[in-house]
Amino acid sequence: ELVNWGIEDAKKGGFAHYMLKEIFEQPQAFYETIRAGISDAVQEMIRDAEEITLVACGTSYHTALIFKYLAEPLCRIPVRVELGSEFKYYPPPLRGLVIAVTQSGETADTIAALKMAKAHNCPTLAITNVQGSTVTRIADTTLMMRAGPEISVAATKSYIAQLAALMEIVNVRCDGKYDDLLQHAHLAIGEVLLQEMQGAVALCREAEHVFFVGRGPFYPVSMEGALKMKEISYVHAEGYAAGELKHGPFALLTPETPVVAICPPGSTYGVMISNIKEMKARRAPIIALGKKGDTELAEIVDIFIPIPDSDPMVQVLTTSVALQLLSYHTACALARDVDKPRNLAKSVTVE
Ligand code: G6P
Repeated sequence: ELVNWGIEDAKKGGFAHYMLKEIFEQPQAFYETIRAGISDAVQEMIRDAEEITLVACGTSYHTALIFKYLAEPLCRIPVRVELGSEFKYYPPPLRGLVIAVTQSGETADTIAALKMAKAHNCPTLAITNVQGSTVTRIADTTLMMRAGPEISVAATKSYIAQLAALMEIVNVRCDGKYDDLLQHAHLAIGEVLLQEMQGAVALCREAEHVFFVGRGPFYPVSMEGALKMKEISYVHAEGYAAGELKHGPFALLTPETPVVAICPPGSTYGVMISNIKEMKARRAPIIALGKKGDTELAEIVDIFIPIPDSDPMVQVLTTSVALQLLSYHTACALARDVDKPRNLAKSVTVE
């Protein structure tokens, strides 16, 4: 049989798109970032901080929000998260450690905010994937993510590597309590990669609007799920705090408006189940992500996507990967240009 492969196909390593290849590289991206560890200088900065402000854009803004939800209850440190594009014109009080979170290290809005923080003598840290990028030259110190080059415009493995770096910061503040968990988290990420998405894709590809809902750290996970859906499939999607849907978006729920609900075990499980029942009562089809074997949840929803049972921090990773796959397969079903979505750039270097 003739093999008809060009250079591009070879670079994609047999995957149909860079995005899928990069989704599959996530266990490694996570593990490598954890393995690289944190320098003493960065550890000291993190231990000394009395409050933390993160600035970021796009997908990086979502990892920063997840950090807030993890760090505030676990490390008891106040965390503020700002969009780079807002920070410059409406600056928050400039005090405490300021962290710029940016895959490329070149996003103009994030750089502008970082420069302002520096000018106000705040200690500054850059979390980036690109050695020698502009933010690394501005910030006092840098924490490198080890995602490797990301070609697809939509961020996937850089998102996971960013979470690895941010979870390490949580771990440093908690005196290494999560060492073991972080060393093994890549295995759970690997388990989700082969999750099939057919039923969920069938609902999303027909939809005009899709809502993504979650609580706590799963709220920004749902915002990221919605961003991915918009970016690559062009289906309008919104990420919402699960309890807020009744304050407006309920008016949009119809049998043609799927809701993707992230419903892992834990303190918010019960209230998520009641939220799901409320949405079902408005006839919205529900796609739920929940713990593998959760029959109570599986029985009340239209499509159940199982997630390995694990610590909430790991569930943040696994649910995120499942949502990347949902967007990816929806975009493919709609024959979109997955790696190069219309009107978007990998790196936005204008304010
Ligand atoms: C662009 C990309 C996004 C990315 C954002 C921030 O909009 O398309 O995928 O999340 O920039 O990029 P950064 O490099 O700062 O993380």
